[in-house]
Amino acid sequence: MRYYIADLKNYVGQKVELKGWAYNTRSSGKVKFLELRDGTGIVSCVYFRGECEEKAFEIFEQVTQETSLKVVGTVRKHPKHENVFEIGAESIEILGKAENYPISPKDHGTDFLMENRHLWIRSKRQHAILRVRAEIVSAIRDFFDGRGFTLTDAPIFTPSACEGTSNLFETKYFDEKMYLSQSGQLYMEATAAALGKVYCFGPTFRAEKSKTRRHLIEFWMVEPEVAFNDMYDNMELAEQFVEYIVQRTLKNRADELKALERDLSKLEVIKGPFPRLHYKEAAEMVKKENPDFVIGDDFGGTDETIVSSKFDKPVFVHHYPQAVKAFYMKEDPKEPGYAMGCDLLATEGYGEIIGGGQREESIEKLLTKIKEHNLNEKDFQWYLDIRRFGSFPHSGFGLGVERTVAWVCGLPHVRETIPFPRLYGRSYP
Ligand code: 4AD
Ligand code: MG
Repeated sequence: MRYYIADLKNYVGQKVELKGWAYNTRSSGKVKFLELRDGTGIVSCVYFRGECEEKAFEIFEQVTQETSLKVVGTVRKHPKHENVFEIGAESIEILGKAENYPISPKDHGTDFLMENRHLWIRSKRQHAILRVRAEIVSAIRDFFDGRGFTLTDAPIFTPSACEGTSNLFETKYFDEKMYLSQSGQLYMEATAAALGKVYCFGPTFRAEKSKTRRHLIEFWMVEPEVAFNDMYDNMELAEQFVEYIVQRTLKNRADELKALERDLSKLEVIKGPFPRLHYKEAAEMVKKENPDFVIGDDFGGTDETIVSSKFDKPVFVHHYPQAVKAFYMKEDPKEPGYAMGCDLLATEGYGEIIGGGQREESIEKLLTKIKEHNLNEKDFQWYLDIRRFGSFPHSGFGLGVERTVAWVCGLPHVRETIPFPRLYGRSYP
């Protein structure tokens, strides 16, 4: 039988064998304390001279940080803390020595920690972040699976661009030139025509030479697409989705969020309805505080912060100028020049976490846009077929997992939100 630290409350008074790594050790006279971690939690193992095996004290002296161990002892309630358990330890066995583990509890610089990311993830703060990420990923799947969506994952190798050609990763596909996917959206439009409500969820790639706290080179995106939804339906879906993610994480990962010192009251209010702003309204707000902003341009990070700081809920900005948005966006027939795109800006200055909108369904208009964007018409024949054979209004969006995790955890940078980040200037380990 395998015992795990997270389950110790079920074994009070019983003898258990635990396997894990030494997180910390401490001695005071007749007592030695080992903080053991096994991935499910950390438990204090108390060795009393006279109560434990005699050789345990000798072995203890060789236990360095991150040495892997087998510990046998009896589970008991912590004398002072409610709902905390400890081990009255009998024996200790070294399984794998750790020599000069490079990460100590002292402060290390970010570069050093990033260089040692494979070890950095063994620390408490990183455990909390990665567990929140796992919860969010699971919430994402449950939300769509529970609402009749079919998972239809998109390919990573793609012959054409989706989000503009400036940040494409080119790669070889035998003798052909191909790209790493920037977004699965175009494929979701095809699967939406097959299955109605669909989503894809996987890694995407952007060769962006920017070192901001919001940009990764490889990031995970979930992309739902719904046949016959318009832009307004799309915002409703996104709103319910984000509320679900945040409220479920609050419910299931409150301990981790507290460990990260997240202000939970800022998350508790993340419930629909979220405010909706026309681009023109948002642009006026930005102009007031950033006189350099040119109305008609896309928002930069600081502009997004100006808009989102006015609200304690995420805010939708819709109807961006057609010129700053991707080729597939539907132009609003009632407002020429404006696209039926809608982005969602998170609270507390976290910026855009969702980009999406209604797609152009007219083949003539799409052909014009493909030319305007200097894209190769030949590559898009399959995409145009979606319009040739029973064109239909449809909408969808993409939510970036890492920006969402950074926001929910209250982190200053996306680099800690993914186990092994790919950043501009960093691809190791
Ligand atoms: O706004 P984006 O570029 O939209 C699309 O790719 C659409 N095709 C999605 C769709 O409609 N199906 O990206 C969507 C989201 C952003 O809002 C952001 O959360 C995240 O993906 N994102 C990034 N996250 C980290 N690093 C980057 N470089 C990101 N670029 C986008
Ligand atoms: Mg965007």
